[in-house]
Amino acid sequence: MIQKLFSYIVPIKIFKKKSQRSKIIEVTWANGELVLDSENTNYSYGSLQRILRYGLRNIGYDAILKMDHILLLGVAGGSVIKTLVDEIQYKGKITGVEIDPDIIKIANEYFNLDQIKQLEVIIDDAFEFVLKTKNKYNLIIIDIFEDIKMPNFLFESFFSERICSLLQSHGFVLFNTMILDEAHNVRNRKYISEINPKLFTSKMLPRVEVHNELIIIEKVV
Ligand SMILES: C[S@@+](CC[C@H](N)C(=O)[O-])C[C@H]1O[C@@H](n2cnc3c(N)ncnc32)[C@H](O)[C@@H]1O
Repeated sequence: MIQKLFSYIVPIKIFKKKSQRSKIIEVTWANGELVLDSENTNYSYGSLQRILRYGLRNIGYDAILKMDHILLLGVAGGSVIKTLVDEIQYKGKITGVEIDPDIIKIANEYFNLDQIKQLEVIIDDAFEFVLKTKNKYNLIIIDIFEDIKMPNFLFESFFSERICSLLQSHGFVLFNTMILDEAHNVRNRKYISEINPKLFTSKMLPRVEVHNELIIIEKVV
């Protein structure tokens, strides 16, 4: 396809929409791949997909293949879902929670998310969903951004305790965070220090992209 070829030289925007929640969403050919961006950052595919793939690799593809149910908070174009299904060949169930219905329409149209049989997408606020769900999960991926901003609730101990209580035994949390200044560094360290060390191990992965830091929590019982 000609647009794909040209995109190695210069990015080609093929779709742009104002969304109530996400302000601006763009679909662009960049370096031969279709990516989804918000106004100031990459939301899906591109670097975002590489970051989460790095986190999944750290958890271990063998461990992931044995899982039954993965919860993804923040779906956007669903690039981590493609990594799980197409690259890792994960066969279990995936529940994706996304607050912005416009973004799911775009994900279905440009990235065929609705053709993934093992995926259930729920339009809801992740905070509300996490309070309501009766399921337990082997892996919870937290990937929630409002453009470059991360909502405060993500770092509150109420939320992290609730997330940890939804883990199956030996389950994992993979939390993608953005670090733009020193306050964010402090925030992440505080977050990790508050995880109960009797029940969980927690670590930060060495950064692969300048602004993203991944936190991995594992339930040890
Ligand atoms: C970086 S994107 C997610 C990318 C996706 N995980 C992937 O692999 O391609 C962040 C998403 O979080 C969503 N979001 C922001 N606040 C949310 C909330 N409170 N509940 C659920 N989703 C939210 C945004 O609409 C956006 O689609």
